[in-house]
Amino acid sequence: MKHHENGSGSPELDQRAREELEAAFAVSGSGDVVRDLGRTEESNVTKAEAGQNKVPGASSEPKTKKPSSASALGGFADTPLARELSEITRRRRALESAELPLPGTTRVITVANQKGGVGKTTTTVNLAAALAKNGARVLVIDLDPQGNASTALGVEHRSDTVSVYDVIVSDVEIADVVKKSTEGGELYCLPATIHLAGAEIELVSLVAREQRLRSALDKFLSEAEEPFHYVFIDCPPSLGLLTINAFVAAREVLIPIQCEYYALEGLSQLLNNIKLIERHLNPELVVSTILLTMYDSRTNLSNQVADDVRQHFPAEVLATPIPRSVRISEAPSFGLSVISYDTNSPGSISYLEAAAEIARRGAPESAGPTK
Ligand SMILES: Nc1ncnc2c1ncn2[C@@H]1O[C@H](COP(=O)(O)OP(=O)(O)O)[C@@H](O)[C@H]1O
Ligand SMILES: [Mg+2]
Repeated sequence: MKHHENGSGSPELDQRAREELEAAFAVSGSGDVVRDLGRTEESNVTKAEAGQNKVPGASSEPKTKKPSSASALGGFADTPLARELSEITRRRRALESAELPLPGTTRVITVANQKGGVGKTTTTVNLAAALAKNGARVLVIDLDPQGNASTALGVEHRSDTVSVYDVIVSDVEIADVVKKSTEGGELYCLPATIHLAGAEIELVSLVAREQRLRSALDKFLSEAEEPFHYVFIDCPPSLGLLTINAFVAAREVLIPIQCEYYALEGLSQLLNNIKLIERHLNPELVVSTILLTMYDSRTNLSNQVADDVRQHFPAEVLATPIPRSVRISEAPSFGLSVISYDTNSPGSISYLEAAAEIARRGAPESAGPTK
């Protein structure tokens, strides 16, 4: 069922549906209460990253640029480090030898979780870079006023930069705002600036306020000279009108789940809200992918969370978890993905593997064509 021909025909919401959505997403009809604007972003530079969780001899971050293979290490071949290096080499070779299929129609994937610091931006940027490295044409839409995805992709987002804010609030065309990432390949970014923080409130009084991004994206994709294979939308850590716009613009939702205590808290609210969107605004929306992030195989807690999530969502969880890795957190300060920053690090290889899984699984059944 296509309900957005030309991006203009938005389904009319009846009063009850609107009230249900407004309550779930805390959107105020009069625009005076928008929950989560004053959110607290959890810092993820945790004890583990500060080096307090290090197990001697079990570094997950081999710095060696070119680990050949365990056998080349002679007498050290049986150490944990050598085993890790040889495992990384094996995974890298497997990735190099496989070609990834490109989707026939654009896959629009919203990366969402109302918790801050779970790895949404990191996942968006690195999956996009991984797919672009494999020959896909990829657009990242930064929908977080903090603009972290724009920074990581090396795209300017000063307060006077024309940005996704202008697209959503002032009907500027995406084509006039998109910038090529410094990352290389066919990777593009629609940057976010701090003005986006006000959009939650400004949107309230606009016509078709839930469909603004969808309309602009449909137009952009249908007019693009060369088709895009993937669009990733990096959501803010809140369930407000920006996130609704992301859900309405996408066919798929990817939920990153941090392998930490409280990881599943808030997940049922998120899934309920996605169901509401599916029922009222975007019948094609599917939670296609769940990605475990900041996984530390040495801790029971990480393993327990991973087991729990796999048990609840056996079909959606990717086989590859993303390890907690200092290289992953360092990369954005160089305006790079971890894949460019340290290609052979475990974090880079994991994101490449996760991207390969997403590409091979293809779009979910109910997801229709974009154009
Ligand atoms: N796998 C990882 N290992 C280590 N640090 C990570 C990892 N993923 C994300 N981080 C760091 O955690 C913080 C929050 O990640 P981010 O992607 O910005 O989360 P979100 O977008 O959900 O708020 C950032 O400082 C980021 O560099
Ligand atoms: Mg973010």
